[in-house]
Amino acid sequence: MNVIFLGPPGAGKGTQAQRVSAALGIPQISTGDILRRAIADKTKTGLEAKSYIDAGQLVPDSVVIAIVEERLTMPDCANGYILDGFPRTVPQAEALAKLQSIDSVINLDVPDAHLVNRLSGRRVCIKCGATYHVSMLKDGADPCVACNDKLVQRDDDKEETVRSRLAVYHAQTAPLVAFYEKEGILHTIDGAQSMDTIYDAILKTLGVKP
Ligand code: AP5
Repeated sequence: MNVIFLGPPGAGKGTQAQRVSAALGIPQISTGDILRRAIADKTKTGLEAKSYIDAGQLVPDSVVIAIVEERLTMPDCANGYILDGFPRTVPQAEALAKLQSIDSVINLDVPDAHLVNRLSGRRVCIKCGATYHVSMLKDGADPCVACNDKLVQRDDDKEETVRSRLAVYHAQTAPLVAFYEKEGILHTIDGAQSMDTIYDAILKTLGVKP
């Protein structure tokens, strides 16, 4: 099953993709995570991507398409995958269509007003990447429940950068809703509901029993 998770920054793509990936036994492919790892490793791609990510802008299509093209050839993708954060522009969607056929696009719909709060309160484990919101934590110094490592705020989750990311989403990524609607594979889910309700709705949409 080849699935895309679409939605604005903070819609819950990563949160849900992690859970659905574990339930279906297929990999979650997050271009954001791949790019952040490249930045941490100071690779050529990472050095190129950093200034775009810090400014809340999209990394050039050619860079991201090459990353995904290579990732989809790996053996763990043989039975399907969840693309989290890709495609993000019409040229990326067109490039993907030439590589693989997609079964479903899950579009998490959340009003902008919720997103700034979600992102400015997000904390991420530096080791395993698990995501939390400050409202879930007892105090600011809580460790990761999964691996006991430190939780940090992503640099691009500062309020000013979040607003740039939302503007970029509306200008460059939102047109993909119409793109996939036309293909007849778009499923929009209200992403402002509880995490469990959204998870159940995604499994139902994908025809998977909880
Ligand atoms: P990326 O890492 O993909 O960031 P994003 O799309 O902006 O998405 P986020 O990770 O911010 O949000 P999410 O939807 O995964 O939400 P999450 O589950 O974490 O990309 C970062 C950057 O990399 C981009 O800006 C760009 O520069 C570059 N990039 C990446 N892909 C690219 C591409 N294809 N092309 C070009 N450039 C690319 O949840 C957010 C918070 O909300 C958490 O705290 C969570 O606990 C909370 N939450 C989740 N669900 C709920 C709920 N239902 N109710 C309440 N709170 C919730």
